[in-house]
Amino acid sequence: MEQTGASHRSLDALAPKVTAAWYIACRVDALGAGPVRSMVHGRPMVVFRGAGGDVSVLVDRCPHRNVPLSFGRVVGDTIQCGYHGWRFDGEGTCTHVPGLPGDAGHPARRATVVPSVVQQGFVWVWPDADVAPHGTPFRFRHLDDPAYTTVCRSLPSPGSVFMVVENALDVPHTAFLHGGLFRDDTAQRREVTCHIRRFHDRAECAFVGERRPSGIAGRLLSPSGGDISHVDRFHLPSITEVEYRLGDENHVLLNGACTPVDDTTTIVHAVVSIRSRLPGWLVRPIVQPLALRIFAQDVEVLRLQVDTLQAFGDATFVSTDIDVLGTHILRLMHRAARGDAGDPEAPPFERTTTMLV
Ligand code: FES
Ligand SMILES: [Fe+2]
Repeated sequence: MEQTGASHRSLDALAPKVTAAWYIACRVDALGAGPVRSMVHGRPMVVFRGAGGDVSVLVDRCPHRNVPLSFGRVVGDTIQCGYHGWRFDGEGTCTHVPGLPGDAGHPARRATVVPSVVQQGFVWVWPDADVAPHGTPFRFRHLDDPAYTTVCRSLPSPGSVFMVVENALDVPHTAFLHGGLFRDDTAQRREVTCHIRRFHDRAECAFVGERRPSGIAGRLLSPSGGDISHVDRFHLPSITEVEYRLGDENHVLLNGACTPVDDTTTIVHAVVSIRSRLPGWLVRPIVQPLALRIFAQDVEVLRLQVDTLQAFGDATFVSTDIDVLGTHILRLMHRAARGDAGDPEAPPFERTTTMLV
């Protein structure tokens, strides 16, 4: 059985490194007047916006004496190192060496460029220096849609991307850890059918027969109750998607684009888009504190999970059939980390199970 039983893994196995992929370095609006440092797969980067408005990303290391460029400041369209004042443009060319007569632009003085794309208000980077960038960053479906209210938050979490992603898409803990906020452990459970599919680049679980969650968030979004349509998805390399439809008018899409800082820290760039009968000005102040409370509970439990894994030095995970997506996510990530893109033509792996939700 693929889904059930114990597995013993090293801690590395819980942090597959998918480096040839697009990750969010930061939000564009985090770029004020100064540079922003970002770490992806342990690789320090500096993001800056020049006076002309262009956003550039360089490896966060001055070629001169290896002080981080993020210690410097933005001057015109360049970033200036805070130690001796060398300046670099967005192409990494050294444009100025204070005190050095003549042309500053010797090729040996180049800073290293990190490929980047600005899309939907986020700066995406390609951290793999050995593999040329390909494909396009993930698009948030309703981020630019005026019919939706969208809230974006970028928050650090303990755990590898895999651990954070599994947590975000894990239904069984919600009634328990977040009891009353979303689902409710005291409510009568109902049997729900779970259709699991794993494609070459994503895995998803569609839940059929689920009632509107009985906690605060569910009641606010659909006071009248009723059945919902619910699909959880994982998109390589690190995107979670939780989608609920309640009746015709209520649609909730929760995305988490995870950036691997290192093996035990992940930044979650959450993008929550909601279309409901309630106006946006009302949805926002209700959803934000609830979502932050839920996130804080997840962070606390992930911190404990990381600490326990490190104390014991290995992972002995026992799974059951209701741990629907974890093994599929890990399998996809390990394959991608080996540089294997999978076969887009292959039929998906499919499995159906049941869960009491
Ligand atoms: S270390 Fe950056 S200018 Fe000297
Ligand atoms: Fe959670």
